[in-house]
Formats: sequence, C-alpha cells, structure tokens
Amino acid sequence: MDYTEAEKSIDELLTSAYTTNKLQNIVDFLFDSFEHYSWIGIYLVKNSDLILGPWKGISPTEHTKIPIGKGICGSAAASGHTEIISDVTKDKRYLACFLSTKSEIVVPIKKNTKVLGEIDIDSDKPNAFTQKDADFLEHIAEKISAVL
Ligand code: SME
Repeated sequence: MDYTEAEKSIDELLTSAYTTNKLQNIVDFLFDSFEHYSWIGIYLVKNSDLILGPWKGISPTEHTKIPIGKGICGSAAASGHTEIISDVTKDKRYLACFLSTKSEIVVPIKKNTKVLGEIDIDSDKPNAFTQKDADFLEHIAEKISAVL
C-alpha cells in the first residue's frame, strides 16, 4: 500500500466514532497493509519501563516489559530517536523475540520531547525498513500521541 493512502486510512481510524480501540485498530491496519511488517506492537511508558499494549503478529512476545535503556526498544525510548536495524544479528543491544526476525524499526511516540511510548515493528526480511518507513511511522506516532 502507498504510505500517503495509509496515513489517510489511519486518520479515519482515529476519528471514527465506532472505533473502540484506536491503537489496536492501527496495529491491525498496519499489519494487514504492509507485507514487510511481520510483527507490530505498541509499547507505552510506565514509570521506567515500556509495557506492551496492542500487538499483532504470528506469535506473542515474551518481552512484554522492557526497561528503558534496554534493547533496541529501550534505546529508542531513552534517546527519543527512531532506530532502524537492518540486521538484528549485528546489534548487540537486540533482544530476540522471534527466530524469524531479520530487521527492526522502533519509532518513539512523543509529546513534545517526552516519550510516551513507541511503535515497534519486526520484519522477517533483512534490511526491510527505509527512511520512508521512518517518515511514515513518525507521522503515525504523532497522530497516536494526539489521542493518548
Ligand atoms: N527486539 C526488541 C524487543 C521487542 S520484540 O522485537 C517484540 C528490542 O531489542 O528491544
């Protein structure tokens, strides 16, 4: 799917009066729309941890609570910057969830500079994520931030 088209659909998901669980609907939509998104989760910051919220993928992760500063997820939460990992085997910070994962992107959800959570996406394809994914997901993170 085209990223601009996807943003429009997500705007609709966020405004719909019938949307009972906006974050889960966004996760489901992203999973169904982009083939290279193999597992998607939204983590929310609670105290000094990231707690897994809505997710979609083939299997659940054991990493439902990640201390800020640990793993790729915790690093992105600590820095407030998007992380693109083209080969997860080459990053020492990586916390493995699925044997099939080859690459990962983590995009912080921020209100001004405060990190409220993040979008974490694993791909079964190596080097799956580009700056286009980062730009797109940063827009989605801004939209999510507005409803948190
Ligand atoms: N790989 C992440 C942990 C979360 S799982 O991908 C769902 C990390 O290194 O922080």
